[in-house]
Amino acid sequence: MAPQETLTLVGNHDESARDAFVLNLKWHINLDLSPGLKTVFDGKATKAFKAKNGRAPETRHEMRRQMEQEPYFQMWGSLWSTAQTLMWQSGETKFDRMAPNLESRAKVKGPKKGSLRTDPNMEVPRYVTAVDIHGQPGGYGLELDDNDISAGAMYEQGMLLYGKGQGQRGSGTPPSAVIRYLNENHPEFAPTSILDIGCSVGGSIPDYAKAYPNAVFHAIDVSAGMLRYGHPRMEAEGIVVHFSQQNAEHTDFKDNSFDLIVSNITLHEVSHKAFPHIMKESHRILKPGGIMAHLEVPLRNAKMDLYNSWYRDWSTHYNNEPFWGKLHDMDVIEPITNAGFKKDQTFDQFVPTSNDDGTWWIFGGQK
Ligand SMILES: C[S@@+](CC[C@H](N)C(=O)[O-])C[C@H]1O[C@@H](n2cnc3c(N)ncnc32)[C@H](O)[C@@H]1O
Repeated sequence: MAPQETLTLVGNHDESARDAFVLNLKWHINLDLSPGLKTVFDGKATKAFKAKNGRAPETRHEMRRQMEQEPYFQMWGSLWSTAQTLMWQSGETKFDRMAPNLESRAKVKGPKKGSLRTDPNMEVPRYVTAVDIHGQPGGYGLELDDNDISAGAMYEQGMLLYGKGQGQRGSGTPPSAVIRYLNENHPEFAPTSILDIGCSVGGSIPDYAKAYPNAVFHAIDVSAGMLRYGHPRMEAEGIVVHFSQQNAEHTDFKDNSFDLIVSNITLHEVSHKAFPHIMKESHRILKPGGIMAHLEVPLRNAKMDLYNSWYRDWSTHYNNEPFWGKLHDMDVIEPITNAGFKKDQTFDQFVPTSNDDGTWWIFGGQK
């Protein structure tokens, strides 16, 4: 069996039943109960806000404080958080049973195409370690021993149920939006050296490898546990990826190293001090003519009505994603131009996936 398959946390009968329960609970909350929030938001809560303040609510923050008083929201939020905790516990049960085998299976047997370089002296930034992002037990920085892969195994398990549980059923993957943008706007662009920033377990790389089969990939993350899990997976898929544990704010890559630099749903998890550093570092290591493209969840509050800007901001306040809301309020073009990209070579737009079943926010620039 391929290492990639053996690394995936496969549930036994009871564990699979538990996963199914968590998934159905998430669907019930996100698809059946969420519409009730809008009824309360538009009706009772807005009325109460106006009565108290003598005006209509203007910001999502005002309405957050108002909604926190509403029993329907309290019930919904408590269920949501419980389902999220159950989701991680479901993964932990499988992990605990399989852990002794997983670490040895994660060792790549036979000749390697790619590589793995971890750095025990690297300081994982506080914005990654200070909270367990979206509730993942131990967080991304979890490192129980020198071979530990639990951060990666738990992340993959969690993301499977997390995405599906939000009601995402489409097959157009997020990276397909970046590839679509590049195909439509730079049809001649054929990158042969690609860097994925904040790659976690490398889940986005196969899509890029399919689109750019001649490319050599480098992938960095601050979490060694993610990289140790991603490396054998990519080896099993036959994709040449050089994983290294590095902070995207300051890497050891030489100037002008890459044709394409991407990040996939990563930058909403970095601090606002780190964000401009990452733009500058990307500019330094990008080749002239190269493209930097960052993909994010499509939550630009300025383009949303008040209800959606409040609803979509849930993760900032109740799901350990402290930088989520602020990224979406940010003018990303400013740090990109400050990093050295010419303004008319930058982009900041919403792009559908390859098969139009979702829309993603992408921004970046060409050097
Ligand atoms: C939500 S995950 C990204 C998902 C991943 N890109 C994918 O396609 O599946 C965010 C990742 O970014 C990493 N990260 C956060 N800050 C970083 C930094 N400054 N440099 C490198 N990686 C970072 C985290 O450790 C985590 O693995």
